[in-house]
Amino acid sequence: MSDKFWGPEEIVRKKKEYIMPCLNHFYQEPVQMVKGEGQYLFDSTGKKYLDFFAGVSVINAGHCHPEITERICQQVKTLQHVCNIYLTQPMLELAEKLAEITPGKLKKSFFCNSGTEANEGAILLAKIATKRSELLALQDGLCGRTYLAMSLTGLRFWRTDPNPAGGISFIPNAYCYRCPMNLTYPACDLACAEQVRQVIETSTSGEVAALIAESIQGNAGIITPPPEYFTRIKEILHEYGALLIIDEVQTGFGRTGKWFSIENWGVEPDIITMAKALGNGVPIGVFTALPEIADLYTRPGASTLGGNPVSMTAGLATLDVIEKEGLIQNAAKLGSYLRERLLELQDKHPLIGDVRGIGLMQGAELVKNGKEPAAEEVDRILEIMKNKGVIIGKNGRYRNVLAFQPPLIIDQDNVDEMITVLDQALTEVER
Ligand SMILES: Cc1ncc(COP(=O)(O)O)c(C=O)c1O
Repeated sequence: MSDKFWGPEEIVRKKKEYIMPCLNHFYQEPVQMVKGEGQYLFDSTGKKYLDFFAGVSVINAGHCHPEITERICQQVKTLQHVCNIYLTQPMLELAEKLAEITPGKLKKSFFCNSGTEANEGAILLAKIATKRSELLALQDGLCGRTYLAMSLTGLRFWRTDPNPAGGISFIPNAYCYRCPMNLTYPACDLACAEQVRQVIETSTSGEVAALIAESIQGNAGIITPPPEYFTRIKEILHEYGALLIIDEVQTGFGRTGKWFSIENWGVEPDIITMAKALGNGVPIGVFTALPEIADLYTRPGASTLGGNPVSMTAGLATLDVIEKEGLIQNAAKLGSYLRERLLELQDKHPLIGDVRGIGLMQGAELVKNGKEPAAEEVDRILEIMKNKGVIIGKNGRYRNVLAFQPPLIIDQDNVDEMITVLDQALTEVER
């Protein structure tokens, strides 16, 4: 990079000229981020921001963490790439560590470069293991950007391909605030989970390879299922000989007060997919499976950069830091506090229709006139908060959900600061 900052106007101009227009950015008046330190970001004018989005749930250990950065730099200086046709140690160290921290008996891994690739790989493995090809996915789910992953995505916003892959059926999700079954929990007796059976019986040959689902649906607007949901889903799938693939791309590595959010409900998936926070900013993806499933993947499979020493070292360093600094515990503690403070704001502000999430993965769905999605208001709130030095995210089926997914290193003062600014922004928008 040249040593002169271009500034936001020049970057937007060059973006229009050189980058494909599908790539949008947040804000009417975007800023150029030039530096990150812990839970803070700095723009090209030197202005400091409290980061409550962590690059979409990636920077769990904080920006440019000194130990992680140092270990990455050391690895870059020693051996950056050789491809996994040769033996290197960091990949095995990380695989061993993942076998230790992933739920239950999940053990064998395949490393790649992104969440999309991890999901694609997990689906391939499920097809190989079951010798079946039909798939199930959740409405509102996000699986990725490639042909199959996009076809498994249940959000219109992210389904660009008009001719998606066939053999995929969608299950209504546990979006209790806007229940797809028009029922109320717990009287519903998890009718949405029961739809897995209904859909297998009516919309497939009965021979389904797997269902892929995020444990908490991030892009959908932090849709958090009731506690017994995944237990019921897994029971039904196994009854039909289908596998459960849990996508922990956005929820993993301490964010919900556990290593993985599926652990909040004691459910052990057959395959788990991970990316984002594992590298704390370095590109990485991996899927890990039960050994009896993984061992069926015997035909050649490799990724040029998957398992490269630099990403593996970043992963190992990130996991060490998460453990040493007690970040899982901090996510649980600060997550409860954040949730309490958001619920207080819900009492005060009619715009907040629903608050949901676990740990430091919280969402507030904004509505008006009953449950009409307040997407424009979300954009205004993001803009006001950015101008006041606080970065939060947005997502949701209707793009009307405020997303709070900060680095896990935040403290109570950070939550208080974000809440104060959010309170001011809501007051201004409600005026
Ligand atoms: C739950 C989930 N799965 C998969 C993906 C795709 O990951 P990537 O962008 O690394 O390909 C995302 C990205 O936001 C995600 O949130």
